[in-house]
Amino acid sequence: MRKLILAAASIAALTFVGPASAQSPIVLKFSHVVAADTPKGKAADKFKELAEKYTAGKVKVEIYPNSTLYKDKEELEALQLGAVQMLAPSNSKFGPIGIREFEVFDLPYILPDLKALRKVTDGPLGAKLLKLLDSKGMTGLAYWDNGFKQMSANKKLLAPSDYKGLKFRIQSSKVLEAQFRALGSIPQVMAFSDVYQALQTGVVDGQENTWSNIYTQKMNEVQKYATVTNHGYIGYVVIVNKKFWDGLPADIRDELTKAMKEATEFGNGQSAKDNEDALAAIQKAGKTEIVTLTPEQDEAMRKAMMPVYKDVAARVGQPLIDDFLKETGRGPMN
Ligand code: LMR
Repeated sequence: MRKLILAAASIAALTFVGPASAQSPIVLKFSHVVAADTPKGKAADKFKELAEKYTAGKVKVEIYPNSTLYKDKEELEALQLGAVQMLAPSNSKFGPIGIREFEVFDLPYILPDLKALRKVTDGPLGAKLLKLLDSKGMTGLAYWDNGFKQMSANKKLLAPSDYKGLKFRIQSSKVLEAQFRALGSIPQVMAFSDVYQALQTGVVDGQENTWSNIYTQKMNEVQKYATVTNHGYIGYVVIVNKKFWDGLPADIRDELTKAMKEATEFGNGQSAKDNEDALAAIQKAGKTEIVTLTPEQDEAMRKAMMPVYKDVAARVGQPLIDDFLKETGRGPMN
């Protein structure tokens, strides 16, 4: 795969020949792993529409959804090598390239709601985290929402003890690994595009994701139960290859910045509704029983996952967790 990415990167380098002319627009390839009909997919499409409009066609944005170009790990490599210019990986996917700090977003129950999230992403902490990307040849442009994660399996998941011994697919985050270990489960890192089949064939027993991701990947067709846990959050960091971005003519970069700002407002304004609609669609499809927890069961889940905070403090440092909690104004147990 690496060979293929390298080949694509050298072609990209040859075709990027400085300022755009009418004949040769600057091509910006935007790869992502989810369906077009999701919060990220829609925000990406909105960015394309606005970017092409504001640059009067001087920039052509090509969107490659649903892992059609690259899977999770490969797409980050492809961006660093310049084979694609823009991505929006989830916060959980930056650890393997050496930026652990975004994993703080994975801490169970760290975000009570999207309002609290916005305080983090729109405040100094959000800006500080984006800056970390510079050293990896990337520029962080925005934070995009998906929403809150739910648990699913072929077994009813009510109490922490129900998770014992089950295999769960996780994204490549050490926090998520610690989370499932705290529940006595066996976490398995896997690319998003492989999850449906892994659930179908029993390679894993369950998974955690947002309603929109569950529905658009048809995971509900192969999972008998889904529990409303809202125990974690999936959001994205929109990143661009730094060399590409810095090399753009300033006026074009300004227009793309404007397009990104508006696409972000658009996407973040509708993500919650997308997830509500997906839940309704899952209910309507009737293949998955939606399980809700009593306040006592919810409390037991929170307690069971608390040891993760200690593990993560050792990995990203307690000050970062404290900064995060200061911004949200709430702790995981309230
Ligand atoms: C996942 O891998 O479960 C998600 O990060 C996919 C996505 O981009 O929403």
